[in-house]
Amino acid sequence: MMNEKVQGALNDQIRKEFYSFYLYLSMAGQFESMNLKGFAHWMQVQAFEETKHAMKIYAHVNARGGRVVLQQIDAPPVNWKSAREMFTQAYQHEQKVTESINKIVELARTKKDNATEVFLQWFVNEQVEEEASTNEIKQKLQLIGDDGPGLVMLDAELGKRSTSS
Ligand SMILES: [Fe+2]
Ligand SMILES: [Fe+2]
Repeated sequence: MMNEKVQGALNDQIRKEFYSFYLYLSMAGQFESMNLKGFAHWMQVQAFEETKHAMKIYAHVNARGGRVVLQQIDAPPVNWKSAREMFTQAYQHEQKVTESINKIVELARTKKDNATEVFLQWFVNEQVEEEASTNEIKQKLQLIGDDGPGLVMLDAELGKRSTSS
């Protein structure tokens, strides 16, 4: 049996991962409408990764004899001013997710749920990558500014993101 608070926090994290899926898919949709296919591809891959995160937690809760309780997922924003604004928000969002994971690590430690604490180490590492990748693109977009050719070049680069990771 899982500690009730740990179980509640993990269920809430499942919601947050699915919200991340929604957020990035909404951003992918805007990039599609801007005909920035590379950015759209990058965001769609990012979105699907978030569903994998949710499902990892789902499997852990079940394996530990807990109960998955799915929650309502908020609608994401629909319109952003620019690619730069989207990646600024994506980076801020990942920072919040990192904070959330860290809180659950601390909770698991307090409740002496070693299995969950160890399980979450994968997420701690993953968040380092997620923050770094969104921040890198955000910074490139800050350099590019309103330069069209720069944006097209970055679009081509992001279109190469592998779907298997
Ligand atoms: Fe995630
Ligand atoms: Fe993420």
